[in-house]
Amino acid sequence: MEGVADALMRHLLTSVNNYDFCITEFLRIVDQLLPERCFYKVCPELAQQGYTQSKTPLRMQLLGQEPNWMAENAVRAIELGSHGVDLNFGCPAKTVNKNRGGAVLLKSPEDIYRIVSKVKEALGNDVVLSAKIRLGFDDASLLDEIVSAITTANADQLTIHARTKADGYRPPAYWHFIGDMVKKYQIEIFANGEIWSLADANRCIAESHTPNLMLGRGALALPNLAAVIKDEQQSMPWNQLCSLLRKYSELELTGDKSYYFSSRLKQWLRYLKIQYPQAQQLFNDIKVLKDKEQILALLNKSSTYESTNVIKT
Ligand SMILES: Cc1cc2nc3c(=O)[nH]c(=O)nc-3n(C[C@H](O)[C@H](O)[C@H](O)COP(=O)(O)O)c2cc1C
Repeated sequence: MEGVADALMRHLLTSVNNYDFCITEFLRIVDQLLPERCFYKVCPELAQQGYTQSKTPLRMQLLGQEPNWMAENAVRAIELGSHGVDLNFGCPAKTVNKNRGGAVLLKSPEDIYRIVSKVKEALGNDVVLSAKIRLGFDDASLLDEIVSAITTANADQLTIHARTKADGYRPPAYWHFIGDMVKKYQIEIFANGEIWSLADANRCIAESHTPNLMLGRGALALPNLAAVIKDEQQSMPWNQLCSLLRKYSELELTGDKSYYFSSRLKQWLRYLKIQYPQAQQLFNDIKVLKDKEQILALLNKSSTYESTNVIKT
């Protein structure tokens, strides 16, 4: 997730869950083979054979519209150690769509076909190629054609975010559309959208007819959500989350984005408050602090915040 699930967040989240794999933020491809540093910037884990410290494989996501450049950059991602390549056809951002990348391609299944088939041809059969789509741009009328294009182009996996571009991120997610595609096509399908709890996951699996789930914002709101779903773990208690927040802050302060430390912490707290009432209080308290030392001191005290039971069902 662009701007949120960076290497540091991936490191923390994969240390408390047993994810099968992670997708990076997208790397924007326009009209060139990007220099290696661009790949390392989006996926610093390439320096560790493409794994997080807890050995979760990373797959780089590419976003663009020109098949040949997408293919060349995909090959480079694999050479550098990415575990497969994911193609983004779901991003709603105006700047990206204006340049005919991301969700706008959902209007044109034949363009999606051209991109996927060119990239697959370049990568060969030993490399996993996945695509990420929404149900459509304005509505789901082209979904069948889009999935057919991706399947015919020989992608190996497909993640469907069960909303259109027009739906944005508004609930609900329409998982049953995924179910229709699972029944019709052989490609391995991952369901995505509005999974915040074990109960949501179970409903999504039932409606989408696939056991494969991709987590988005829910993974930030409840940091051990994957373990809750896959491994029957309890939701992470607040005091454990406070340790994770302290670790995040310490690592953030030693990293290259330390200038943005407090805004990044607040960004995560915005997600966490969906699941933890205490995160709202912490957010309010941090908002008025300017100084890093004051924020760290507050984090040290935060485990004593009134604990109310969490768990969203
Ligand atoms: C801030 C933000 C950034 C995102 N960045 C990406 C991205 O880079 N690539 C991608 O495939 N999806 C991206 N997404 C979409 C999510 O991966 C996911 O499909 C979407 O949020 C729906 O799942 P959810 O309801 O579980 O959050 C982003 C979503 C958000 C909110």
